[in-house]
Amino acid sequence: MAQPEKALEALLEEDRLFYPPQDFALQANVRDQGIYQGAQKDPEAFWAAQAESLDWYKRWDQVLEWKPPFAKWFVNGRLNVAHNCIDRHLKTARKNKAAIIWEGEPGDSRILTYQQLYYEVTRFANVLKGLGVKRGDRVTLYLPMVPELPIAMLACARIGAPHSVVFGGFAAEALRDRINDAQAKVVITADGGYRRGQVVPLKKNVDMALEGTPSVEKVVVVRRIGGPFETPMRQGRDLWWHDLIGAAPLHCPPEEMDAEDMLYILYTSGTTGKPKGVVHTTGGYLTGVSTTHRMIFDLKEDDIYWCTADIGWVTGHSYIVYGPLANGATSVMYEGAPDFPARDRFWAIIEKYGVTLLYTAPTAIRTFMKWGPQWPERRDLSSLRLLGTVGEPINPEAWIWYHRHIGGGRCPIVDTWWQTETGMILISPLPGITSLKPGSATVPFPGVDAQVVDENGRPVPKGSGGYLVLKSPWPAMLRTIYGDPQRYVNQYWSRWEGMYFTGDGAKWDEDGYFWVLGRVDDVINVAGHRIGTMEVESALVDHPTVAEAAVIGRAHEVKGQALAAFVILKEGVRAVPELISELKEHVARKIGSLARPEDIIFTAELPKTRSGKIMRRLLRDVAEGRSLGDTTTLADPTVVATLSAKEAKAWSGEGG
Ligand code: PRX
Repeated sequence: MAQPEKALEALLEEDRLFYPPQDFALQANVRDQGIYQGAQKDPEAFWAAQAESLDWYKRWDQVLEWKPPFAKWFVNGRLNVAHNCIDRHLKTARKNKAAIIWEGEPGDSRILTYQQLYYEVTRFANVLKGLGVKRGDRVTLYLPMVPELPIAMLACARIGAPHSVVFGGFAAEALRDRINDAQAKVVITADGGYRRGQVVPLKKNVDMALEGTPSVEKVVVVRRIGGPFETPMRQGRDLWWHDLIGAAPLHCPPEEMDAEDMLYILYTSGTTGKPKGVVHTTGGYLTGVSTTHRMIFDLKEDDIYWCTADIGWVTGHSYIVYGPLANGATSVMYEGAPDFPARDRFWAIIEKYGVTLLYTAPTAIRTFMKWGPQWPERRDLSSLRLLGTVGEPINPEAWIWYHRHIGGGRCPIVDTWWQTETGMILISPLPGITSLKPGSATVPFPGVDAQVVDENGRPVPKGSGGYLVLKSPWPAMLRTIYGDPQRYVNQYWSRWEGMYFTGDGAKWDEDGYFWVLGRVDDVINVAGHRIGTMEVESALVDHPTVAEAAVIGRAHEVKGQALAAFVILKEGVRAVPELISELKEHVARKIGSLARPEDIIFTAELPKTRSGKIMRRLLRDVAEGRSLGDTTTLADPTVVATLSAKEAKAWSGEGG
């Protein structure tokens, strides 16, 4: 496998080209290159035509109202997302089609047809109403990957209550912050979830989080584990899902929502310590995710589609729940780890259900590469016809491995670039017409205006690198940061006039292909999960022994990037090896294990510019063992030399 520092080089030197296989191209949903010119000429007409395929109570008066940077799509249109994802399919042959095929980690499974999903969702919508949840009230969902998660999301959408899903890997404190920011009225959780055979005690985390959340009135608890696993329930506040749903009436008329009503809030990391509540709305979002899902994954009526993400992230929202269900697809959902009970679990699921479309992350692919091709070889993967990736740049080596060992050399790969904020895929091949270059997300989706610009916001010439921006609004774009519109403006729209800044660096090649190279801000992408350096730094300085901390992302063979924390201890505290694990645990306890630093490096000082800014580039060089470049702006050049010596100690094991 390529060394991490070689990965970027390999990416930039990649020049292989893969044409769409002829048999695939002939049957593809999109076969005509003209789609790009048409959409470019009149993006509003393009999106309006897509929106026509949804069910509207009232058609829109205007496709787009753009008062930069605030957009309204399908102005005055009225629709309901749950109706579009469920009810309208019941009048067709999809009524008895599997909507969700769910596979539990221990091996249990459950299949919900569209009709069954309807009953579950309408009953739970009535449960929510019974608990006093009204249109506009926020509901926090902190659940494992069980069917009750999409059911609860769709029930919220049905009654017009925005949901805020918090990934089950977040710790109590992170959950509390998100509940409080959204001012949620109800929290939905489970007694626990399975992960590699272990139980993750979700309800216990909720109990801790709820010590400081005055807005929460009720907690609904799904029994996932049961048996001897004890779950204390607080009288008057905590209720079992199965008790409530058993007593709930069937049928619940969907609320007629405005196209611009909030569908959900999803928190993501930014450049400050406080996570941002990204707001997505109804009409444009559903148009964007259903269109991209249909065209990019080449969805056909009999496809079995599996996105391996967790619904706690945007990929799960848009491409497990809303996009696929709006399209009447069969969507597979898996609860657990890829190596439980053995390293062929993914391939076993593909064989068991005959998965045709697979969407996963580069970090997973690199893990599979490490485990070796003998695991997929044990299973029949011949049902697969298209593969996708998302979340981070894919190194060409992993791309080729995926193509050969999972796709059998016959499946196109759609490398899809997008973000929590964009709501939908914005840069991706259309598999029937786009030639692929391993490592490149290829070209913007029809109607999407992406560009690479320089420091001054001017487009770079072909063959050059710069910053990735979006120059016009798209239907699924975030509308604001919950409760903080000014932050929305500052964060995304202030660097250059009239442009949305993605936070990513990218190269635009001679053929006009985009090569997204990664974040250029203080956001780190660890195994496809977004983590803000400031969040981890605040968690560290919250520890009684820590005076100051600086966190950077260093290259990691499997995770893409890993967190390295440079820590200055308080006077008199000794840098003993036990403190390293203590600090790692402390961060995991405060944020969640996804933010646990890979390395803790004790240092006496941090390299700062004369104006006091920490020079993260230098820290990255130190953490990756590279020779240091120009350090002339450093306030105290000796700091780096001392750091390097410490760093050498940490690697050799002396530092722990
Ligand atoms: O840096 C880009 C990277 O993931 C970031 C967005 O993270 P998040 O909001 O958590 O959403 C992830 C799933 C949509 C982006 O700013 N990223 C995502 N997809 C790709 C990517 N980088 C390169 N290639 C991709 N295909």
